[in-house]
Amino acid sequence: MNIVLLGAPGAGKGTQAEKLVAEFGLCHISTGDILRAAVKNETELGLKAKAYMDAGDLVPDDLIIDLMRERIQQPDTEKGVILDGFPRTTTQAVALDAMLKDLERPLDAALLVDVEPEVIVGRLTSRRMCKACGHIGTAANGPVCTECGGEMYQRDDDNETTVRNRLEVYATSTAPLIDYYKGCDLLVTVDGDRDPDVVYADVKAKLQK
Ligand code: AP5
Ligand code: MG
Repeated sequence: MNIVLLGAPGAGKGTQAEKLVAEFGLCHISTGDILRAAVKNETELGLKAKAYMDAGDLVPDDLIIDLMRERIQQPDTEKGVILDGFPRTTTQAVALDAMLKDLERPLDAALLVDVEPEVIVGRLTSRRMCKACGHIGTAANGPVCTECGGEMYQRDDDNETTVRNRLEVYATSTAPLIDYYKGCDLLVTVDGDRDPDVVYADVKAKLQK
């Protein structure tokens, strides 16, 4: 199964991807995670991407499309992929269509985790992530990862000013993809403003239809 995850920053894309990977062993590709690793390791890509990410703006399409063209050809993607945070613009969506056509792998669904913007700011300013295993949690869980005992940290872009800009960028550049995938008859929507396990049950039910 090949799935695109759509949804505003903080909608719960990473949280639902973690559950899908645990149950179905799909390959999770998060462009945000790849970019954060590149920034941390000070690679050429990371050095180019950092300022955009810190401001909550999108990294230019050409950098992301080159990155994904290479990543999606790796052997671990053959069992199916969850694309989390890509595509994020219509240009990226058109490029993804071409990549999948070349690989003869159709997209099965574009899954929209739907959450109203007012819920998001609180979620993201209290998000914490594990340095060791990448688990996504919240400040309320304390400084130690509930999955592996690693150290939890706050993402640089999870401050209120940057979160508000990310929401604006989402509305302008990424939300139009909802209509794009509706037009391809691939859009599946779940209400993301419920307990994560309830959201996940709905995700599974709708993907297995
Ligand atoms: P990216 O890392 O993709 O961030 P994002 O889209 O802003 O999304 P988030 O990861 O913040 O949220 P999420 O939906 O995964 O929520 P999560 O599950 O963590 O991108 C970061 C940056 O990289 C971008 O701003 C851009 O600069 C760049 N970038 C990345 N891809 C790009 C691309 N394709 N093109 C250009 N630039 C790109 O959950 C959030 C919190 O809520 C957690 O604390 C979680 O525990 C909690 N939570 C989750 N679900 C629920 C629930 N149901 N109820 C209550 N709380 C919940
Ligand atoms: Mg995420």
